Parts: sequence; C-alpha cells; structure tokens
Amino acid sequence: MTSEQKTNMTSRTLAANDLAETLPKMVMSTRAIHADDFVSSHRAIAPAIHVAVNYRYARDPDQLVPGENKDPDTLESFVYSRYTAPNSNRFETVLKDLFHGGIMTYSTGLAAFHAIMVLLNPKRVFIGDGYHGVHGNIDLMTKLTGVEKLPLEQLDQLGPGDIVHIETPLNPTGEARNLSYYSAKARAAGAFLTVDATFAPPPLQYPLQFGADIVLHSGTKYIGGHSDMMCGILVVHPERVRQGWIDQLYSARLVMGNVMGNLEGWLGLRSLRTLELRVKRQSENAESLVRWIDEEIQNPCSVVGQVVDSIRHASLQKEDVEDGWLKRQMAGGFGPVFAIWLKTPDQAKRFPSKLHIFQHATSLGDVESLIEWRAMSDSKCDTKLLRISCGVEDAGDLKRDLLQGFQALCE
Ligand SMILES: Cc1ncc(COP(=O)(O)O)c(C=O)c1O
Repeated sequence: MTSEQKTNMTSRTLAANDLAETLPKMVMSTRAIHADDFVSSHRAIAPAIHVAVNYRYARDPDQLVPGENKDPDTLESFVYSRYTAPNSNRFETVLKDLFHGGIMTYSTGLAAFHAIMVLLNPKRVFIGDGYHGVHGNIDLMTKLTGVEKLPLEQLDQLGPGDIVHIETPLNPTGEARNLSYYSAKARAAGAFLTVDATFAPPPLQYPLQFGADIVLHSGTKYIGGHSDMMCGILVVHPERVRQGWIDQLYSARLVMGNVMGNLEGWLGLRSLRTLELRVKRQSENAESLVRWIDEEIQNPCSVVGQVVDSIRHASLQKEDVEDGWLKRQMAGGFGPVFAIWLKTPDQAKRFPSKLHIFQHATSLGDVESLIEWRAMSDSKCDTKLLRISCGVEDAGDLKRDLLQGFQALCE
C-alpha cells in the first residue's frame, strides 16, 4: 500500500467510525441514504455497478489465504458472485440497518421462503390463506420431505420444531393478523413463527418486535418498487442470528445458488433510498381511497354504491382489535393494498379497462398504482374481487380515476 493510500484509508476509517456512532441516532429516511457510505472505498456519491462474477487473487503467493480474497486497497473480500458480490453486499448493509435484524437476500420472494423451509426443515407448517405461491412451495416440499400443511384453526396440535407461518397484511385483502397472538402460541409449543410481511415493509410494521423469528419480504414489491427487479429478503431476529441462523442460511445459499443478480443488487440499493417516502405515501393513498369508497358504499344512490358491494383493508378492521394490537403492530400505516368486491363478476372483469391511471397488472408495491381482476392470476379467488395496490401518484387523481371508471361501468 502506498503512503497516500494509507492516509486515505486512515481518514476513511475515522470518518466511518464517526458515522457508525451517529447513524443509530438518525431516522429511517436518513439511514436509508447513508448506512452504506463507507462500504465502498470509492469516492463516487452514487454506487458503482459491479457486474463481475469472479475476482483476481493476490499476485504474491504469500498473500494467498484459502477462501479469502481481501483487497489491500479497499479491504473488501470477494471471490465469486454466488458467494457474495459488491452490489448485493451494499444492499444488504442498508437493509440490515433499516430492518433491525440479520439479512440474507435471494433471487425472489419464493426463493427466500424456500430457504426458510430448508433452514428449519419442519415436520408441519400451520398456515392460513394468503399468497398461493407459498402454498405451492410447501406442496412441493411435501413431496421431498413429507412436511404436512395444516390450517391455523388446528394450532392446538402445534409441537416443537413446527412452523406457524403468518402473512400480514394478507393477500389479497390487505387485512392484518395479530402477531403477538401467534407468537405466544408458537413459543409455548417450541415452534417457530415466520412472517410474510411483503404487504407492509418498514416503516409500516416491524414483525420482529412482535415475536417473529424470521420475516420474509418479496423485495420484488415495495423494496424494488419500480416494477423492474425481483428479489427476496429474510430478516432474522438478532437472538436467532446469535444462534447461527444467518451462517446456516448463507451456507445453504452457497449451494442452492438462489442469489440475487448483480444488477438487481444495484437496483435494490437505489430503490432503498426512497423506501420510506414511497411506502408512507402509498399507504396514505390507500387509506384515503378506502375511507372514501367505504363511505360511498353506505349510500346506495351514489355511483360507487351502485357498483361496489364491499371493501376490505386493515384500516377498516374492527373485530378482535379491542386491545389495540392493530395500531401497535401497524404503527406506521395500514398498508397500500386493499380489495373491493363489485356486484357482479362481469363488472369486476370490465372495470380495470375503464381506468386511465391504474394499470391492469398483477403484483404490487410499485410506484404505479395497479389494479388486478384477481381471477387472472389466482384461480381460487372470488371472480368479483379486484385487488388494488396504490402507487405514489396524487390521491385526488387516483380518486377521480376510480370515480370516472365506476361511472363508465354504469353507462
Ligand atoms: C405475499 C407474497 N409473498 C411472496 C411472494 C413471492 O414473491 P416473488 O414473486 O418475489 O417470488 C408474493 C408475490 O406476489 C407475495 O405477494
């Protein structure tokens, strides 16, 4: 190392130490932008895009350490992109700071769920409704390991090593589930609580605080947020990290090969910068539309009342919320997704084509508002149901778009 490189390294280390001390006192929006300031030694403000698959070893044979490849200039160590890579490494650094747990990233949300099944290798998974792909993954595992899938109504049969898997808020209605209730059940039986929190990432909810052992996010949704990348994220409770869960997940990922692509790692980091801004706005948009539609439904003479039969969203949940768990658990907002039922399947099928702003497509979490006649992608879903995922557009424009769509249906 040259003396100039040594000086740079020292001042960088000092600055990095200063930041490490002040960062925890800052709020999410600031940390999302600065948590990785010193992960790369480069001075560029924007992160570089590294697409390399492999990294040159040291020229000096005395410097060769099997399994390691520390670069003397950057102090970073990369060998092969299936192990770790600079873009996803930086992405994981920011995720760790924002999600308050150990982090492992994957190529998709379902790959992340599969990693949970491999890690815990349960005999039984207790699971309710929710995303059909997760059910499909368990069914596949049943063929390999004989794991049984049981409904949440049979939790009295819960035993050590079983998984209670809760999706909250739930696909497609956006209604929440009481995590404290399920975590108490899991703990009493020596079982694990895994939570799919895809529909409400930080700053909306933090399931680790309510007893989850592992939280799953399809990062394809809000974390990516721009309809252009796929990823899955596992957030592991710090106590479980101490028990070696992240090390075990990492070892399994090495041989399963379900890592994020290099470009996705870069896109993910870029998207995280605005996660807080986007998700808050999306959740506020949903709450305002839900309030409006719910009020209008009460009036059968209104255009909305003539077309919409019912609406569901966490913000409308009234049952079983007496002890205030819903507000405590979803302190940051009730989530950007809700569902409406139109009066007939034909109306539900035709409604998306009347809209100008809402895109008729599957998925959720993107900056664009989306609507899906859910029968398009979930064969078991009620054909009168439309799932709505609010984007970051203006709430007034979204409301006007829905209203003109309801009017067009009545013509
Ligand atoms: C709740 C939920 N979990 C998991 C997934 C799977 O994510 P991915 O499509 O990234 O595999 C989805 C996808 O829609 C989802 O909605």
